[in-house]
Amino acid sequence: MIVGLFSLFKKQVSEPLDLSLIGVDMHSHLIPGIDDGSNSMDESIAMLAKFEHLGYRKVITTPHIMSEVYNNTSEIILKGLDEVREEAKKHGLKIEIDAAAEYYFDDYLVNLVKKREVLTFGDQYVLVEFSFHTPPEYDDLLFFEMQMARYKPVLAHFERYPYFHGSTEKAKEYRDKGAQIQININSLTGNYGPEVRKQAEKLIDQNLVDFIGSDCHRMQHLVTMEENLNKPYLAKLSQLTLKNQSL
Ligand SMILES: [Fe+2]
Repeated sequence: MIVGLFSLFKKQVSEPLDLSLIGVDMHSHLIPGIDDGSNSMDESIAMLAKFEHLGYRKVITTPHIMSEVYNNTSEIILKGLDEVREEAKKHGLKIEIDAAAEYYFDDYLVNLVKKREVLTFGDQYVLVEFSFHTPPEYDDLLFFEMQMARYKPVLAHFERYPYFHGSTEKAKEYRDKGAQIQININSLTGNYGPEVRKQAEKLIDQNLVDFIGSDCHRMQHLVTMEENLNKPYLAKLSQLTLKNQSL
């Protein structure tokens, strides 16, 4: 009986995910004061120290670029990156820090792509987010322009779009068209609700995930991750062929 209980207990607990296996985080909001992420340099440094403590070797931070909401430019982001790097160095942080952007999909982005004026990371990847309310229209146009420019779209937090819930067909379709799928670690902790969690689990089970990101806006996101590293689906991440380490 005692042995039986012990094995039952063993089955429910997974090995905690070692985040150094992910290595590189490619979705976060760590440049202070330019979007809805970090509010101050102190907060940014504290979060970077936490990333380092969790085992990450590099962070590619991705401030929002969303016309009329977050009017960021490549120049604003790269200037912010310089300031964060300098401050991190002063604090003795070892973690490598780079930047790209999280582009909202609209005409403004399509024009930036046409002008070849987007911030990429890794192998010409561009992080793109869709509206949370309305399914994307003209996404074929975006894919066409991206292809012409030799950019590779990475679809941000793909599990969070309610209009795609319940099916993974769209993820398959977009991947067939050359897009990469990114999910948030905290979707697996239940941070965004049960539907988002279920969708993230489905994408993992069907091996449709290319990148995993923290989408860290504040310290609490990293604390939630840290507290849930032994959740079964977080542990499963180490079995996927993710592209984070290639960055
Ligand atoms: Fe984000």
